[in-house]
Amino acid sequence: MTNKIFFIANWKMFGDLKSLKSIKRVINLSKKKKFLNAKIIYCPPYTLLNSFVIKTKKSRITVGAQNCHHKIDPGPYTGSISSNMIKKIGAKYVIIGHSENRLNGDTNEEINKKIQSAISNNLSVIFCIGENMTEKKNKKTNLVLRNQINLGLRKIKKIDKIIFAYEPIWSIGTGKIMSNNELKKQILNIKNILKNKFKKQKNRIVYGGSVNDKNIINLKQIKEINGFLVGGASQNSNKFIDIIEKTIN
Ligand code: 13P
Repeated sequence: MTNKIFFIANWKMFGDLKSLKSIKRVINLSKKKKFLNAKIIYCPPYTLLNSFVIKTKKSRITVGAQNCHHKIDPGPYTGSISSNMIKKIGAKYVIIGHSENRLNGDTNEEINKKIQSAISNNLSVIFCIGENMTEKKNKKTNLVLRNQINLGLRKIKKIDKIIFAYEPIWSIGTGKIMSNNELKKQILNIKNILKNKFKKQKNRIVYGGSVNDKNIINLKQIKEINGFLVGGASQNSNKFIDIIEKTIN
């Protein structure tokens, strides 16, 4: 396998300095030759970004934030962090459009501005898209994904700095995952939307939603997937290592 496989840990609103220590094993393993194809990215809460950057400095692990404000310049936005600040602290990635933030009011238009801001600061974007259960039941998945991509990527001409994360909302934290056939169909559908919009540009799509050290054996069979965005299971280093090892082996 020549292409890199992404393993992105989204720690959400979990973790403190003590839990940072637990990633030591992941850091050590990431230096081994057999991990060369694994691109490991940790996205801890803002409070741990600096510590993660320092701790992972001499390793092949990179660090990302979980969100950013759409404004680039400093300003009176209490509680917000700009992509510029994220870049300056040494992070390389930022998750944008996560459904938990869409639920908090992030519209496709707002997400588009955030993506533009991140890319202008030379950050790579982990762009989350996905349908909820009602949309799925009403057979609206295609429409939802198409809208999220078209509106979220307005004015974006190149996707080399974007990793697409397909996260069906009904799969997040529920233990429910669609069949491999259905998942493959959705990934190909996303690839098709991207191909129409961005022609021959290479796309990278990771899957997220209840990925764990057991179902990974099954999920890794889908060759169209370029990696995984892992929530709950990524907070336990042993489970996260298991997910990585089982995928690359
Ligand atoms: P879980 O892996 O806990 O389902 O979370 C997925 C997710 O939201 C990652 O961004």
